[in-house]
Amino acid sequence: MEYVLQVHGVVRRRPEGTDNPEMSTGTIDVVADRVEILNASKVPPFLINRDENIDELRRMQYRYLDLRRPNMQQNMILRHRTVKFLRDFLDGQGFIEIETPILFKTTPEGARDFLVPSRLQPGKFYALPQSPQQLKQLLMVAGYEKYFQVARCFRDEDLRGDRQPEFTQLDMELSFVEREDVMRLMEAMVLALCENVVPHMPLKYKPLRRLTYTEAMEAYGSDKPDLRYDLEAVDVTDIAGRSAFPIFQQNAEAGKPIKVVRAPGLHVRRDDPAQILSGEGLKRQMKELEDLVRTVGAKGLAYMALPLDETGEVKGPIGKYFTVEQKLALFERTGAQPGDILMFLSDKRETVWAAVDKLRRSLAETLNLADPNQLAFAWIIDFPMFYWDEENQRWDPSQHMFTMPMPEDIPLLDTDPGKARGSQYDLICNGYEIGGGSIRIHDRSLQEKMFPLIGQSMEHAREQFGHMLEAFEYGVPPHGGMAWGVDRLVMLFAQVDNIREVTAFPKTQSGLDVMAHAPSAAEPGQLEELYIRLAPLPEKGETAAP
Ligand code: AMO
Repeated sequence: MEYVLQVHGVVRRRPEGTDNPEMSTGTIDVVADRVEILNASKVPPFLINRDENIDELRRMQYRYLDLRRPNMQQNMILRHRTVKFLRDFLDGQGFIEIETPILFKTTPEGARDFLVPSRLQPGKFYALPQSPQQLKQLLMVAGYEKYFQVARCFRDEDLRGDRQPEFTQLDMELSFVEREDVMRLMEAMVLALCENVVPHMPLKYKPLRRLTYTEAMEAYGSDKPDLRYDLEAVDVTDIAGRSAFPIFQQNAEAGKPIKVVRAPGLHVRRDDPAQILSGEGLKRQMKELEDLVRTVGAKGLAYMALPLDETGEVKGPIGKYFTVEQKLALFERTGAQPGDILMFLSDKRETVWAAVDKLRRSLAETLNLADPNQLAFAWIIDFPMFYWDEENQRWDPSQHMFTMPMPEDIPLLDTDPGKARGSQYDLICNGYEIGGGSIRIHDRSLQEKMFPLIGQSMEHAREQFGHMLEAFEYGVPPHGGMAWGVDRLVMLFAQVDNIREVTAFPKTQSGLDVMAHAPSAAEPGQLEELYIRLAPLPEKGETAAP
């Protein structure tokens, strides 16, 4: 099937009635007078022209054959068109693309660094950039007011469907801007991009919806909620806290919220919408959902399953603790309809958030609520500057240490850092974080204030970031920017659920290139040149040496 042939002959229209509309060349024939085999092919390990369920490891092992398949070709073309549109758009806005080094120094973005040993400076290491963050800020110091780069970034972190150890950012930075300026430009670019590259995918919000971090967490339990469907958590602490259910009473008194997620039609049989689920079926389904929220620390999942008509009874373990008025108030608050199930979560705020997020994702799948063709881009703003790291007893920046606090919150850095909001803005879509950015600190003394807060000694900070602090003393324009994850964006456009599908040569979940067998052992001579000696490797099952 996969031979490469050279065919000499005359192209002609196919005889009438023999056209094959399934093939792009289905209306022509080549009447061959000479055929030459340029290269033969073994029988390929999978069929190229058929979209079958092929084992992914096998696809990755023979990636060059996998990339021959029509949907992979389409994904690569889609990626090219996306990046080309973005480049042209930014060029049209007066941005210039500047390349920054891959061999650099630590650029923390919350992951581990990949280190590269230096032969010329034995015992020293470059770090591959987690992002061009520092370099693009230094370009602002240098006076390149509008910078962008299609930048390769490297992060040694646990891999997921939307994470690869190396990935591509559309990285941007601008001088003399405020948050609104950057957001306005970015929004115009998203809208233009979608209109041009994926005109068949409708946008849910135009202009884009904006949510504060707190609004997003309270309603959806996530700072990157999938907004294609509602399944909003509604606070019912005032109603449920007055019911006779002891746990709700105690929690409401202790200041713990009680929230309800309403699952539309979940009480109804999937195969027969005129019937409700059997008692057993309902219990089984609710047990599964309860087990799911337990994985994030929730202690249980109380529920009320509504009947299909007025004469039926509400099913579930807690109905009996609520008066008729309380139930009616609940139904009104949550917009409950016949056949719905109301699910109650009550715990610490953070636990409720995590459980709401889990529930929403799972229910959307069960009830098939997310339209793969729709794009629900939105902004999340007003993030807290820091999260408290209980284990290390210090504040962790929620974006990175160069983010400017909201101007009115700067005094809080001295008094109550947990309450300070950052000037960060995230672009989200369909449950993914597509991009993140902020206005930056451009003042040395404010930047220096950040280090002790996040548990870094000044000495360490000067060693790692002395070049930034020094640069901040030479006339720095106020600046801000953003980076988009190109892989994630194209993944949504291609309507696939893993960025491997839009990456030509991706790594597996455990960071392997199974085609070329990377990473691989170094030659002893190479290690010697680098003055590197390997410590004994951990036995199977042991964790790696610290
Ligand atoms: P951030 O860390 O949010 O911000 O990264 C920006 C975007 O890059 C994508 N992304 C990834 N994509 C694939 N695999 C990964 N491992 C991965 N990690 C991140 C996401 C994310 O939203 N310097 C800042 C940007 C700025 O402030 O201008 C930064 O890197 O889509």
